[in-house]
Amino acid sequence: MYEELLRYAEHVRSKVDKFMLEILRGEPKTLYDASTHLIRAGGKRLRPLLLILSCRVVGGSEDIAIPAAAAVEIFHNFTLVHDDIIDRDEFRRGVPTVHTKWGVDTAILAGDLLFAKAFDALCRLPELGVPPERVVKAVKLLTWASVTVAEGQMLDMEFEKRVDVTESEYMGMIEKKTAALFMASSGIGAVIGGGSEDDIRNLMEFSRHMGIAFQIRDDILGLVGDERVLGKPVLSDIREGKRTILVIYALSKLDEENKKRLLRILGNRNASIEELREAAELIKSTGAIEYAEKLAEEHVSKSLSYLDRVKVVDEHAKHLLKLLNSFVTRRRY
Ligand code: IPE
Ligand code: IPE
Ligand code: MG
Ligand code: MG
Repeated sequence: MYEELLRYAEHVRSKVDKFMLEILRGEPKTLYDASTHLIRAGGKRLRPLLLILSCRVVGGSEDIAIPAAAAVEIFHNFTLVHDDIIDRDEFRRGVPTVHTKWGVDTAILAGDLLFAKAFDALCRLPELGVPPERVVKAVKLLTWASVTVAEGQMLDMEFEKRVDVTESEYMGMIEKKTAALFMASSGIGAVIGGGSEDDIRNLMEFSRHMGIAFQIRDDILGLVGDERVLGKPVLSDIREGKRTILVIYALSKLDEENKKRLLRILGNRNASIEELREAAELIKSTGAIEYAEKLAEEHVSKSLSYLDRVKVVDEHAKHLLKLLNSFVTRRRY
């Protein structure tokens, strides 16, 4: 079902990767090696795909969107490098994380470099004939995403210390840490493609709900995914005490005794693998996975309703956006 989407994603990858690796060249070699490590390792390139399809759907061409598509992927990689330090994760995309390979100090700098290079990539848009006012709008959107992701990541950390995080607080947090960059990707694509204010807004709402569904799926995979397929650790959310939707739901359903058992393991960095598995079983026993799956599907449907409000120029791009939207909750990696 997704072959067509994955084929297009590969096509986008080749163009975007070429641009990214060209802009990420320099010295000292260690800094650039560390900065390009995850990019070379793999990744789905969903944000570039979303940006390019949002540009196409309102009538823009694929090629003028490439520097911006590279910008959001470079920015995404910046967040991953710093996120893995924060979450103490040792592998991603099937390879050791940047701080595991080069140390935390170099990883911080690699992240800083990627952050700056994301904006550098956007500044290349005028060379392709994108009008200055569209470039300014694009920069504003990426700046908004930078601020919002930082706020979301801070909330994610603060929630680890609390037992009373609500579902609505969780939704607000994932909108910031994850959906904001999806929104900016769509928004930037639509701006570059010359979409109307309404089209830009509708595409950003489409991406807001898709981003929410995407993060809920990420939380599910973090509990029941296959590490080899996923390329990143499973159960580390429990070790770090993350208040994922699964944990919030389970805490609201478990009896006092089981709730205490779960809370003793959550956030215990010395927990054994058996204890982490026990916590996962407790969470699953409440029906948390099914609950989260349903919630994600609701956001996928909501997302589609916004796509249907867009004045479409390129029907094939819309078709691919629909496939992408359905992929986010069915993916296994
Ligand atoms: C991982 O994003 C970080 C989250 C927002 C959950 P992706 O699942 O898109 O990661 P890659 O780029 O494919 O590795
Ligand atoms: C996702 O963080 C959001 C960002 C990276 C900004 P997570 O910590 O939930 O994502 P993974 O599971 O490590 O990819
Ligand atoms: Mg993480
Ligand atoms: Mg994190």
